[in-house]
Amino acid sequence: MAAMLLGIAPAASAAAPAIAEGRPAEARYENGRRTRDGIGKYYFGREISQVMGHQGAGWLERPEREQEERTDLLLEALKLRPGDTVADIGAGSGYFTWRMAQKVGPTGVIHAVEIQQVFLDLLMVNMERRGVADRVRPVLGTIDDPRLPEASCDLILLVDVYHEFDHPFEMARAMARALKPGGRLVLVEYRGEDPEVPIKPLHKMTEAQVRREFSVHPVRFERNIDVLPRQHILIFRRDP
Ligand SMILES: C[S@@+](CC[C@H](N)C(=O)[O-])C[C@H]1O[C@@H](n2cnc3c(N)ncnc32)[C@H](O)[C@@H]1O
Repeated sequence: MAAMLLGIAPAASAAAPAIAEGRPAEARYENGRRTRDGIGKYYFGREISQVMGHQGAGWLERPEREQEERTDLLLEALKLRPGDTVADIGAGSGYFTWRMAQKVGPTGVIHAVEIQQVFLDLLMVNMERRGVADRVRPVLGTIDDPRLPEASCDLILLVDVYHEFDHPFEMARAMARALKPGGRLVLVEYRGEDPEVPIKPLHKMTEAQVRREFSVHPVRFERNIDVLPRQHILIFRRDP
């Protein structure tokens, strides 16, 4: 505390708070009716959606995306700083990866995490083309482990990804561990509360549902930045 009052930054090696091992009873997985876009596995009453295949790369890179989703406003809201270490989980073709790589500059690092190697290959071609491959680390994760170093990230971003995690509890626990103390976890999800958002129901989430699912993790909900036409920007923070 004295160090904070004196304006001295805490040592980078400061130990992060411990995170419990077991999965609490309320975070159980249940099998149920499998609907058209789902996998028949339920978590906190929500059916988990199918994963988008690499055939969806063209849709992620569509030219009208910036205008439709105002991805420029999202990037602004993240308030990235030069030198930041960021993880882009479910990075896909790297739509956000190279844009964030430009913001963190040559001293920053972006871990681009994917479970589909085809996407990682495509992503690295795109990073070369954009001239930022030097600061982007491709990471082949698994369905329950993003393979990130502990207490390493200032920010972890998930755009349109969390609802398709096969193991949301294990992924969220691992991401909380990968945050530096005080680091931010940011979920961007199509608004489930809004029937006007033209996206399949399982690919949307309500703020209440996301907050319920993260209530079992050591991150605090901070705010919903309500500036995008179709999506929530939900900010969680790990205790300093
Ligand atoms: C709809 S795409 C979004 C891509 C990117 N975030 C964007 O907005 O352009 C979702 C991606 O999440 C990936 N994904 C799903 N589960 C994952 C997991 N457990 N770890 C890492 N990536 C995952 C999928 O392979 C897919 O490429």
